[in-house]
Amino acid sequence: MGIAVSPIQIDSRVSDFISKPRKMLIDGKWMDAASGKTFPTYNPATGEVLAQVAEGDRQDIDAAVQAARKAFDSGPWSQMTPSDRGKLIWKLADLMEQHLEEFATIETLDNGKPLTVARAADVPLAIDMFRYMAGWATKLEGTTIPISMPHAANSSYFAYTLREPVGVVGQIIPWNFPLLMAAWKLAPALACGCTVVLKPAEQTPLSALFLGELFVEAGFPNGVVNIVPGFGETAGAALAAHELVDKIAFTGSTEVGKLIVNAATGNLKKVSLELGGKSPNVVFKDADLNGAISGSASAIFFNQGQTCCAGSRLFVERSVFDQVIEGVAAKAKKINVGSGLEPKTAMGPLVSEEQLQRVCNYLEIGLSEGATAVTGGKKMGDSKGYFVEPTVLVNTKDDMRVVQEEIFGPVVTAVPFDDPEELMARANSTIYGLAAGIWTKDISKAHRLAASLRAGTVWINCYNVFDAALPFGGYKQSGWGREMGKDVLQLYTQTKAVCTRL
Ligand code: NAI
Ligand code: MG
Repeated sequence: MGIAVSPIQIDSRVSDFISKPRKMLIDGKWMDAASGKTFPTYNPATGEVLAQVAEGDRQDIDAAVQAARKAFDSGPWSQMTPSDRGKLIWKLADLMEQHLEEFATIETLDNGKPLTVARAADVPLAIDMFRYMAGWATKLEGTTIPISMPHAANSSYFAYTLREPVGVVGQIIPWNFPLLMAAWKLAPALACGCTVVLKPAEQTPLSALFLGELFVEAGFPNGVVNIVPGFGETAGAALAAHELVDKIAFTGSTEVGKLIVNAATGNLKKVSLELGGKSPNVVFKDADLNGAISGSASAIFFNQGQTCCAGSRLFVERSVFDQVIEGVAAKAKKINVGSGLEPKTAMGPLVSEEQLQRVCNYLEIGLSEGATAVTGGKKMGDSKGYFVEPTVLVNTKDDMRVVQEEIFGPVVTAVPFDDPEELMARANSTIYGLAAGIWTKDISKAHRLAASLRAGTVWINCYNVFDAALPFGGYKQSGWGREMGKDVLQLYTQTKAVCTRL
């Protein structure tokens, strides 16, 4: 199958932005890497170099951490009222909205995702996250606590708690939702009064750097937000290990999550992790099958399957198995795969050559272990872009690698089930616990199952619903802590108890 990549007129601000090597933001200034090195970022639809970016390493991370430390310990940020902090975050969101089109185009060029999706989902959700968190800046409250002190009954005390920012935060984010992940991390940290060093993924550094320009324009004091692009093993590792960083927040693979935990032991910095998933999506025979079929297809194929909570293990009640699989496969075949810039594209390329290899490798493993592809099963066409066919695998066994391991591509494995009890054990039997889906009209059954699924999010008759107010995160090896909603404030504040003898 051929893949259309027609030349498309790109906004002049965007072409200007990508035509120059992009620098890193440290202490309010745009800097080259101390080493002078740059690295290329690629357009995944064509495999061509898109832009050159300053390659941060230990020295740059150190400069950024020092700037964040100074801004936290003594800069104007620490004196700013919560209301002014909230206003500044809101102002950033307004600026982002003015540049929505540029953000969406940069995201599509750098990550590959359809422009229609970046425009309708990634960028508006990122903006909304800043607005939602701007409101929390003024609502971080402690409590007053009555003290009994039974062994000193004659004395009395007045005690209260303060919620204080945790300090300098290092944030390491992935490439699947580059701008949105930056927003999930930056917005709550800033609302809580922390200062930040953000390291975007090496595959997709551009939207975070564009966002950096708006932080400067909005008037954030120097050093409050520092953005250092670079590789994981160098810049990322230096940030995770830095002695002056109070907390590290990471989204990415479970494997690297464990490295982050180890790196954090030096100064026992706080750690939060949002890691991989292999989420079960369960369709019962009493579901609205049309809704379940479209929902199950988009649960896996959204964002080229590069979603940590993708519904990648489909369980279908046996009597409707054939019908549901046929339906999902038919949806898969109809997906318009192509360059994200094409208006009719519904699925773009994978993010990188490496990710394409990884996904194709899993497809080969699955097929050689006995799975059958109802549709898809390989790289798509002979394009230089990183396109892979939307794939539905059947005849899988629960212990196969394609069923146990995160593929992070448009590949779903589907199995029938008979008994709901046995189903629960199978649904929970991976190392992950990020999300799950349930499709049924029986609400009691749905809520019973929701309680027994070991997952941080359960969607009932829907999938991939995200909201700034709804906490998100993992059970088991899918992570530590919850992002978004009120819960995330726990990650960026700490409690101080103050006790006075009266
Ligand atoms: P990764 O976990 O290596 O990369 C994520 C981020 O961590 C990037 O910013 C990277 O530069 C950084 N990083 C890498 N090694 C590091 C280290 N030693 N110290 C500090 N930071 C480090 O993920 P990768 O290699 O891009 O993808 C591999 C697999 O990870 C994917 O196939 C997928 O299964 C999973 N993944 C999960 C994501 C999620 O949203 N939970 C996002 C991206 C990948
Ligand atoms: Mg990696």
